[in-house]
Order: sequence, then C-alpha cells, then structure tokens
Amino acid sequence: VHTPRVFSGIQPSGGLTLGNYLGAMKRFVEMQGSEFETIYCMVDLHAITVWQDPDKLRHATRELCAGFIASGLDPKQSVLFNQSQVPEHTQLAWIFNCVARMGWMQRMTQFKDKAGKNAQNASLGLFAYPALMAADILAYHATHVPVGEDQKQHLELTRDIAIKFNNDFGVEFFPITEPVIEGAATRVMSLRDGSKKMSKSDPSDMSRINLTDDAGAIAKKIRKAKTDPEPLPSEAKGLEERPEARNLVNIYAALSEQSVDDVMRDVGGQQFGTFKPMLADLAVDKLAPISTEMARLMQDTTEIDKILDDGAERARAIATPILQKTYEIVGM
Ligand code: ADP
Ligand code: NA
Repeated sequence: VHTPRVFSGIQPSGGLTLGNYLGAMKRFVEMQGSEFETIYCMVDLHAITVWQDPDKLRHATRELCAGFIASGLDPKQSVLFNQSQVPEHTQLAWIFNCVARMGWMQRMTQFKDKAGKNAQNASLGLFAYPALMAADILAYHATHVPVGEDQKQHLELTRDIAIKFNNDFGVEFFPITEPVIEGAATRVMSLRDGSKKMSKSDPSDMSRINLTDDAGAIAKKIRKAKTDPEPLPSEAKGLEERPEARNLVNIYAALSEQSVDDVMRDVGGQQFGTFKPMLADLAVDKLAPISTEMARLMQDTTEIDKILDDGAERARAIATPILQKTYEIVGM
C-alpha cells in the first residue's frame, strides 16, 4: 500500500481553453501538495486515435506541457510527462486488451459519439481507447482519478479490468481506482450556446476563451457572449432556467474562487453591460500571467523537452516494476 496517488491525462489535440483550465488544470494544481502523489500525462497516444497532423501534434504536446506549468504545476512536485515516452502504457494496454471483453467496449458511449455514423471506418485504436486509459491509470496503481462526466464510464471500465485481472489470476494486484468527481460549477459552457460545453473542437472561436488569447480577445469574446435580455437575477436560484447567464456567473465564481451565492450577493440585479466588463477584467487578470508564461516557455522548447524527459524517467521508475510484475503474474 502506497500513499494515495492521482493520475490524470489531457490529449494534446489542439489549443487549451478556459474549460480545460477550470475543469482540469486548476483542479490538478489544487491536488498537488495535498495528501496525494500526483502524476499528470500528455496523452499523445490517445490523441492519434483520430487523425493528427504530425507537426501540430508535436507542437500541441509541448504547448500542453507549457500550459500545465504556467497553470501552476510544479514538475518537481508532480510527475509531468508524455505518454509515448513511457512504453509501459502500451505494453500494459495489450495485456488489458486481452482481459477486456468485446461486449464491454461496445457499450462505451464515447466511442459511439466520436465514431459517429460511420463506425466501421473509425480506427481500431479509437475502439480500444478505454483499455489504454486503464493502462495509463493502473501502470501507476493510481488510487484516484479526477474525472469529468464524460469519462465516468471509462473509469468504470478501468475498475472492471482491474477486478477481472485480479480474479482471473487469483491476485490482489491492481487497485480499484476511485473517481474524484468534478463539481457542476467547474463545467464551463460555450459562450455562444449555454447547452454545449466549451471545447477546442467547436468550429466557432468566439465560443471559447483560449489560454493563448490576449486581453483584447478575451474582453471581446465576453462582451459578445450570448445572453438573454434580462439583467442578472437577484439570487442564484434565478439562474436555473438561464444557462448563458449561469455560465458567466459560474466562470466568475470559479476564477475568483468564490461560491456562486457569494458572487450573486455582489452582482445580483446587475445589467450585463456592467457585469461583463467586470468578468472580462477578472478573466484577463487570472489568464494573462498564464498566457505570458506559456509564450515564454514556447519560445525555446529545450526547457520543456528537459522537463518531459525527466518526467518520463520518473514515470518509468514507477511503471516498469508494475509491468514486470504483471508479466510475471500472466506467465511471461
Ligand atoms: P476538449 O473537450 O476540449 O476536447 P478534452 O476532452 O481533451 O477537451 O478534455 C481535457 C480535460 O479538460 C478533461 O479533464 C475535461 O473534463 C476537461 N474539460 C474540457 N472541456 C471542459 C469544459 N468545458 N468544462 C470543464 N472541463 C472541461
Ligand atoms: Na474529454
């Protein structure tokens, strides 16, 4: 038994948004230095389950690493590394491909969503993705994984794989990893449509705030954010049927580290013409240091590459003995 250990990953499949920051990176930073040992991964092998331009992938992997560090992750406190630099992930994934059942994979709703109508033409990797994710987590015997709503089913599958492996071989080797569920307030919605989450894959750049946006772009996107014509309600309850208004207040609360009730005590009843500039100032205040630091790190990538090399070495120091033991249990 080791100290509780957190594993999480983000795909280097494009730019980073305010949603990634509030929903993932800021939470990852909060867990660092808590009772958890923290391991965070750029999952480039997951990214290529759909087509990635090679040069863009290389760039996005480094930019993601820069985003992690600029958001406050300390590569000395956390293990920060790139998935393809640690071959134990794919080695363990093969074992798990042989543990997981076809029927389990066929039930994964994210595959159905991502493969769309033409599932026969999806990559085999996209189908097997959850077994690689199980390997990401279990190669470190991670006890906890922070997950959003969209990853809950995959973590459930990770638990099923651990249970079946342990049963099949009569061992108590892999832990049954617990989810750390995100709060509703950390789910950031599109600035153009309050029913869709803010995403780097949304075709409209006005729908999201990118961590690389400058102050002018941030202010413009917030000024143009879709809202209804009413002023803000006097209390939080009044936001329930107003997704766009609620989203802006949620963002304000998350960035200022206050509860929505506290924010509403200050801004309840305001016109958007007053509230939006306040939100823009706050967003610029919090995000400008991050984008500045990201730009600095990206100017000369030797520092990032060194951090990733060191991280991979530390990751392998944990994963190699776990893979060796797994092979031994399986009869290899
Ligand atoms: P995207 O949806 O932009 O492709 P990913 O699926 O790569 O982003 O998500 C990476 C991490 O960021 C995940 O932990 C995910 O839960 C989190 N995340 C992404 N978008 C949002 C959002 N709009 N609100 C909160 N968290 C988000
Ligand atoms: Na996701």
